[in-house]
Amino acid sequence: MSEALVEHYRSVRRHTLALAEPLSDEDCCAQSMPDASPVKWHMAHTTWFFETFLLERYEPAFQPFDAAFRVLFNSYYNGVGDKYPRPWRGLLTRPSLGDVRAYRRNVDERLVQLMARHDVPAELTGLVELGLQHEQQHQELMLTDVKHLLSMNPTHPAYSQAPLAPASWLAPATWHAFEAGIVRVGHEGDGFCFDNETPRHRQFVEAFELASRLVSNGEYLAFIEAGGYRDPALWLSEGWDWINANRISHPLYWRQMQDGWREFTLHGLQTLDLHRPVTHVSYFEADAYARWAGARLPSEAEWERAARDAKDFGHASLHPPAASGGARPDGLMQLFGACWQWTSSSYAPYPGYRAAEGAIGEYNGKFMVNQYVLRGSSCATPPGHARISYRNFFPAGTCWQFSGIRLARSSLS
Ligand SMILES: [Fe+2]
Repeated sequence: MSEALVEHYRSVRRHTLALAEPLSDEDCCAQSMPDASPVKWHMAHTTWFFETFLLERYEPAFQPFDAAFRVLFNSYYNGVGDKYPRPWRGLLTRPSLGDVRAYRRNVDERLVQLMARHDVPAELTGLVELGLQHEQQHQELMLTDVKHLLSMNPTHPAYSQAPLAPASWLAPATWHAFEAGIVRVGHEGDGFCFDNETPRHRQFVEAFELASRLVSNGEYLAFIEAGGYRDPALWLSEGWDWINANRISHPLYWRQMQDGWREFTLHGLQTLDLHRPVTHVSYFEADAYARWAGARLPSEAEWERAARDAKDFGHASLHPPAASGGARPDGLMQLFGACWQWTSSSYAPYPGYRAAEGAIGEYNGKFMVNQYVLRGSSCATPPGHARISYRNFFPAGTCWQFSGIRLARSSLS
């Protein structure tokens, strides 16, 4: 196996440890809600993936590091067997964080040895790459899960002590027109993609316009001040029930103080920056905002058509940057590296989609129900992980991811 892949393996695995660096052992063990997992669990589960899907299959004389881990750190693979219940992951005070770090070192050593062998089957390369892409997905979850955890603490602890400077400027939003026609959707080329990005296929898309940048906090604040959360005409029925049942009247991490709005960030509690994009909004909120603004959310095919020549995949940071303009000749900004963008498309298989054989086939396909697709990437997406054809997906009431709003509108006359 190539030196480059071994080095890539080491660097992705190191990045996980680097993300945990600012955290205490206590930070790493707690779980703030059923959707979020403790950092320690992420560190173990990503290792479990390599042990279960690679070492167990291909290592001569395989012995598990700890037989109990097969169940403890199985996320959702029914084909592998029993799973420890997700809402209880924060109760796993044993194994200790030290034990999990030892587990990581052990699996790293064994996997690098396996990769060095000359008789490994060709499919191992693809599985190493899948394991690394899987770990990168969990790296983003580590940040969003830890943000949710820290947000529960009334002392507003910061993950990063680095200051978050206010954005001094915001590029004006403009509309960019795309003609009607057949567009190609799905992954192209030899690079890695998940199975849900295939097969590449054609879709007819009517003429549409896409906003040049994401909706800003200032624009979203205008929606709130105009009574957006109190007007049932703006909301999908389930969305109206959702905001009322959960008493939601602003984005997840906004806090209203006597002297104005603050936003909890990975840099701690900050004055709400009106220039930065609104983030941590649900599909329901994105949809209601779009209706209020006289627009709508883009479909997946529209988004992919608009992004097809993208070259700038953004830079990882801990909070979405403001649109400062000029990255692409067509003026589209913040396609990547700020907030995931809700689309109006249900997460469904592309025509001709087939999941992989066996337990690994549970990776994506079985989740294609009751979720919406988000496109692009976020500030928390690790470097090298974003792609034009990438399909992220969450249920409509999800807000703890870095999810934002890009508007579209139809240009049919
Ligand atoms: Fe996973």
